Amino acid sequence: MAQTLRLAPSILSADFVRLGEEVRAIEKAGADLVHFDVMDNHYVPNLTIGPLVCEAIRPHVTIPIDVHLMVEPVDALIPLFARAGANIITFHPEASRHVDRTLQLIHDHGCKAGLVLNPATPLDWIDHVMDRLDMLLLMSVNPGFGGQSFIASTLPKLQAARKKIDAHAAAGGQPIWLEVDGGVKTDNIGQIVAAGADTCVAGSAVFGAPDADGGYRAVMQALRRAAAAKARD
Ligand code: DX5
Ligand code: ZN
Repeated sequence: MAQTLRLAPSILSADFVRLGEEVRAIEKAGADLVHFDVMDNHYVPNLTIGPLVCEAIRPHVTIPIDVHLMVEPVDALIPLFARAGANIITFHPEASRHVDRTLQLIHDHGCKAGLVLNPATPLDWIDHVMDRLDMLLLMSVNPGFGGQSFIASTLPKLQAARKKIDAHAAAGGQPIWLEVDGGVKTDNIGQIVAAGADTCVAGSAVFGAPDADGGYRAVMQALRRAAAAKARD
C-alpha cells in the first residue's frame, strides 16, 4: 500500500492570492493530485471556488485535478468542470437525484468519476454502482471547512470499503481508488493507510507548512514516511 500512496493537497488551505504559484509549488514538491474543493453555501455552509478557478490553474500543473463537488444539485456543473480541465470529479450521492446518471454524465465528459460519503453516510451507497466508480472518497470530517479533526470512526469504514473494493477487483472489476479527506496529518496517516486508503487529501497539513518550496516537500515526505513506517509494522 505504501508504494502506491497518492497525496492530494487541498488548495482550500492555499494562499488564494498566489494560487498559480501554490499549485506549481505542490507539484514540484511531489504532489500526485491537486484536490479542488467546490462548496456552494447550500449543500455545505461555505462558499469557495468554481470552474473559472479550475481553468485558471490548469495551465500551471500537469498532475490531475481532483474536483470534489460539495454542491446540490450536481449535474449542471459537470460539463463546466470537464471543460475547465478537471480530470476526476467526485460528488456526494445525497446531492444528486439520480446517482447512476450523474456518474455516467461525468464519464461522458471524459473524466474519472467517484462518490463521496460523509462520516454518517452508509457505505452501501456504492453497492449498485461499483462498476461505474473510479474513486471512492470517504470524508473523515464533516464537509465544509479545512483544518478540522479526523473522525476516528472513518478507520473501520475504510477497512470495510477496502474489502468491497478488493472483492470487486478480484471478481474482474476495474480499479477503484480509495481516498480519505479531512484531518489527515503525519500522526494519523499511518493508521489511515493501514486501514486501506491509497489516496490521502491533506489541506492544512501541507499548506500550513512554513515556506512554499522546501516546507511543502518536507511535509509530503514526512507524510509518506509515516505511512510507510506503519505499513512495515
Ligand atoms: C473539507 C474539504 C477538505 C479539506 C481538508 O470539506 O473537503 O478537502 O480541505 O482539509 P484538512 O486537510 O485541513 O482537513
Ligand atoms: Zn475535499
